[in-house]
Amino acid sequence: MCDQFVNGSTEAGHPAEKIFLKDKKINYCTGCGTCIDRGKKCSQKDDMAEVLDKMVDADVIVMATPVYFYTMCGQMKTLIDRTCSRYTEITNKDFYFIVTAADDSKPAMERTLEEFRGFINCLDGANEKGIVYGTGAWNMGDIKGKPAMKNAYEMGKQV
Ligand SMILES: Cc1cc2nc3c(=O)[nH]c(=O)nc-3n(C[C@H](O)[C@H](O)[C@H](O)COP(=O)(O)O)c2cc1C
Repeated sequence: MCDQFVNGSTEAGHPAEKIFLKDKKINYCTGCGTCIDRGKKCSQKDDMAEVLDKMVDADVIVMATPVYFYTMCGQMKTLIDRTCSRYTEITNKDFYFIVTAADDSKPAMERTLEEFRGFINCLDGANEKGIVYGTGAWNMGDIKGKPAMKNAYEMGKQV
């Protein structure tokens, strides 16, 4: 679904990059206060600095997560927490959300979406622009051929 979004966006003349959190080393925020209380850069040396640079530079950010126990996955929450040192610079962005779940019910995805909204409500000038629901996807590949794939492509095109 993320690849479909990227294809749509790129075809519409808006190149996009997919960052797969599984491939990144991003430690938990420890709440040490280095950034918030002392105004210094995050002391952790991992891949988050590079991801944050991209989030600050992007015009549009797509947050995508599988639904795990009716919440977002741990990797995504860890990423959000680690924006702590620079979230005030993630301003005036358009946001899209992509969620996948085994469940067929869109309302059952609402808590996960609210978690994303909790994050973007902390950002100045953030706009929620669209949601792609990848429901009924339990195993890898289940989503192929479902309308959600086309929806992701079309939403990418609208960027
Ligand atoms: C730890 C775990 C928890 C899950 N919890 C839920 C859940 O609460 N509700 C649901 O509908 N699907 C649940 N699933 C199914 C995943 O949402 C589904 O496998 C996923 O959306 C597939 O997307 P992916 O191929 O991008 O990982 C869970 C899967 C795992 C591994």
